[in-house]
Amino acid sequence: MPKHTTRHRPSPAPTVDPSSAADLRLDFDGLTFGVEALSDDLMRVRISQHNATPIPPSWAVRSPFPAKPTVPPRVGQRRHVAELATPEATLRIRLADGSWEFSDRYGWTVFQSTSSITGVFSDRARLALRLEPREAIFGLGETTGTFNRRGTIREFWNSDVLGHAPCIHPHLRQLYASIPFALSLRDGRAAGLFWDFPGRQIWDIGSTHRDVWSLQAPADHVDLYLFAGPTPYRVVQRFTDLTGRHWLLPRWALGYHQSRYSYVNRAELESVARQLRRRQIPCDAVYCDIHHQDKHRVFTFGRSFPRPAAMIAGLARRGFRVVAIVNPGVKNDPSFGVLRRGLRHDAFVKTPSGRRDFIGRVWPGDARFPDFTRSKVRDWWSSEQRALLRLGIAGIWNDMNEPAVFDRADKTLDPQCLHHTDTGPRRHGEIHNVYGQLMAQACHQGLLQGTTNSTEPTDQTRPFVITRAGYAGMQRHAILWTGDNSAAWSHLDDALQMLLNLGLSGVGFCGADVGGFLENCSAELFVRWLQMAIFTPFLRNHSNLDTARQEPWAFGPETEELARRYLNLRYQLLPYLYGLLEEMVRHGTPMMRPLLWRYPNDPVAVACGDQFLLGDALLVAPVLRQGSVARCVYLPQGEWFDFWTGQRLVGGAHRVAHAPLDIIPLFIRAGSLLPLAARRSFVGPTEPETVFLHVWPGDDGRLDWYDDDGRSRAHETGGWYRRSIHHHQRSRGGRLVFDAATGTFPSSTRTWRIALRGQTRPIRVALDREVVGSHFDAETGLVILDIPNRRQAFSVDWR
Ligand code: GLC
Repeated sequence: MPKHTTRHRPSPAPTVDPSSAADLRLDFDGLTFGVEALSDDLMRVRISQHNATPIPPSWAVRSPFPAKPTVPPRVGQRRHVAELATPEATLRIRLADGSWEFSDRYGWTVFQSTSSITGVFSDRARLALRLEPREAIFGLGETTGTFNRRGTIREFWNSDVLGHAPCIHPHLRQLYASIPFALSLRDGRAAGLFWDFPGRQIWDIGSTHRDVWSLQAPADHVDLYLFAGPTPYRVVQRFTDLTGRHWLLPRWALGYHQSRYSYVNRAELESVARQLRRRQIPCDAVYCDIHHQDKHRVFTFGRSFPRPAAMIAGLARRGFRVVAIVNPGVKNDPSFGVLRRGLRHDAFVKTPSGRRDFIGRVWPGDARFPDFTRSKVRDWWSSEQRALLRLGIAGIWNDMNEPAVFDRADKTLDPQCLHHTDTGPRRHGEIHNVYGQLMAQACHQGLLQGTTNSTEPTDQTRPFVITRAGYAGMQRHAILWTGDNSAAWSHLDDALQMLLNLGLSGVGFCGADVGGFLENCSAELFVRWLQMAIFTPFLRNHSNLDTARQEPWAFGPETEELARRYLNLRYQLLPYLYGLLEEMVRHGTPMMRPLLWRYPNDPVAVACGDQFLLGDALLVAPVLRQGSVARCVYLPQGEWFDFWTGQRLVGGAHRVAHAPLDIIPLFIRAGSLLPLAARRSFVGPTEPETVFLHVWPGDDGRLDWYDDDGRSRAHETGGWYRRSIHHHQRSRGGRLVFDAATGTFPSSTRTWRIALRGQTRPIRVALDREVVGSHFDAETGLVILDIPNRRQAFSVDWR
C-alpha cells in the first residue's frame, strides 16, 4: 500500500465525472476526492485511495435520498481552489494540499479543515477541523458527561458498559450506541457533520488541542456528510432525511412501563400487574427479562412461566402488553431448535479463518451469533421471532447486541471475525457498530410481518422494538434505552443530557431506566427521577437483580402517592405527547428538546443542559440534586407561566423555582395551547371523548393537533385526524381558530373542553359569533366552556 505524505499533488483540473455519483472529482497524488451535493444544504465528500475498492454501501443512509438540489450545482476552479456550490453552501478544496472549507450562502465558514491532514494515510483515515471560538458541539448520540461535547474525546465502538456514570468511569469514551454525527453551533448558526463508518472512530473535540477537532478511523476511505443548517431544526431534519426517522409507534408505547431483572416467574409478574391496577398506578406494559427463558435459550419460555399464552392473554384483558427480551447469542446446544435451524441456514458469524462459527460466552453459556449483515439471516431471525408473537408478545427488547461477549477481554466479537454481508465479506471490526441495529432491523421486520392475517389491528400491529446498541439510522428500526445506569444523582443529571443529545442525533424516542438500574434507589431519588421521566419519550422503571425493589410502592405510601400523581399527569399529557411523536416521525424534530432548539442565539440557553422543552409549550427544570427544595431556572425571552401556580413570569432571566419534593419546576410558554386528557389506567382501543384544551394568555400560539386510532397502520394511507388550532391574542380577550380537519380517521373527540387560563372575571364567549355559555371559576382563574367537535373550521372568540 503506498504511503501518503501530508501534501497531495492534484491533477491539473477538477473534473465533472458523469460516471461517478460525484459532481466534482479531484484526483490527487494517490487520493480521489468526490464531492456531491445531495440537496442545497447537504454535501457528501468521499475520499479514498486511488484504485481502492469502492466504498461499501451504507447501512445508515436511506437510499434514494429524498431531496435534491434546486438547481444543478456549480463546479468551478479559481486559482488554486476547486469548488462545488449550491444556492446554500460551497465546498472549496485547495489544490495544493487538499485542505477544504465548507461555507454557507453568506460566505460564513461553517467547517474548515486544518491544512493538509484530511485523507487516508496508510490504512487510517483522518480529518482535522478548526474549532472556532464560541463553537459548541452537540449530538454524538449516546454520551455521558457534559451536554456540550467540546473538550471531550469520544470513541465510537459499541460496548457493554456496566454502570456508565462518570462517577464510576470518569474517563469513559465508549457506550452501547455510536452515532458519529455532530451538531455544531456558533453565534446562533447551526451546522452538522456525519462520518459514515460503522467501525471504530475516535473524535477528539478540542480536548488535546483546544481549537482542533480531530477525527480518525482505521478505514481506507472517508465518507463525510456536511450539513449547512442554518438552524438546529434544519440540520436535524436533513440528518433524518438522510438516515431516516422513527415510525409511528403504538400509542401504548407512551404509557408507563414496569420492568425488573427479573420478574422471575409467572406469579410474580402477574402479582406486579395486579398491584399496579389495585393501587391505581397507570401502566401499559410489563416486561419479561431473561428469567422467563428456558435456561437462557432465546425465543423460549421456561418452566417458571407455564402457559405463557394464557398469562399474556390474561394480562392483556387488564390492559397490559408484555414485552420480552431477545438477545443475539444462540445457545450452542445441538438439541436447541433455533440453533439447529440457524446452522441449516449457515447463519452465524465466522471465526477469523472463516472456517468455523465463532463461539463466545454470554447468558446461555457458549453461544453463536447470527450474522445480521445478511438479509437471509435477518429473514430467518424474524421468522424465529414468530414463536413469541404467537404467544401474544406485543413488543421486543433487543439487548446485549453490541454484541456483548463475556469471555473476551474486549467484551465483544473478535474484530477479525468474518461476516458474509450481502455485498461481500467484511471483518467484524469494520462493521461492529452496526451489528445491534441490524438485529433490531430483523426484529422490526418480523413484527411488521406479524403472525395473523386479521384485518383488525392489535397491540402487535405497530412494531414496538427497543435496542441497546445501534448506529446512525437505528431510529428506523428501534427506540433506545440507555443501558445499565445507576441509582445515583449524578446519573440522573447524565441521563438528561444524554437524552437531549440522542434526540439531536435522530433517536428522539429514548429513555433511561427510571430510578437507575444498578444500586439501591432512595425514595427521594426515585421521586425526582420519575418527575423528570414523565416528560421523556420512553418511560420505563427497570432495576437489577440484587437491588432493592423499585416498583412505585416499594418506597412507602408517600412516594407511592407522588408517583401516582406524576404518572397520572403523564397520562393526561398523552394527546400532547402523541402529537409530538407524530411531528418527530414527520420532521425529525425531537419530542424533548434542548433550549438551543428554539433559542440558538441566546448563549445562556445554548449552554443549558439541565432543562428542556417538551414540544414547544412546556419547559421542564428537573431537580437533580439530593436535598434540594429549590432550583435555579433559566426562562428564555418571552412570557411564561408557572404550571402549578399560574403565576405569570417574564423571561430572559434566571429565577429561583420553589421545588419541595412534590414539585418539579414546570413552566408553560405564554400563548400555548396544551391539550390534556382525563386520567386512565392504560391506553385503550379508543381515546377519551373529551379533550381539555388549556389556552394560556399573553401571546399568539398554535397547536398542530394529530390523532388516529393509535394502533393500526391506517395512518400510512390517510387514516388520521389532523387540524391546526391557532390562538390569536387580542388587547382584550382572544380568538381560537380551528382549521378544518383533514384525514379519514373519524376522531374519538366529541367535545373540546376549552379552559381559558388567567381570567379575572366572567367573559363573553362566542362560537362562530354566536354567544355560548361558559363557566368562570374565580379561585383558579379559569373560564371553561364545551364546544362539540366537528370537522369543519370554526372559531371561538372571547372578550
Ligand atoms: C443487561 C441489560 C439489562 C438487563 C440485563 C439482564 O445488563 O442492560 O437491562 O436487565 O442485561 O437481561
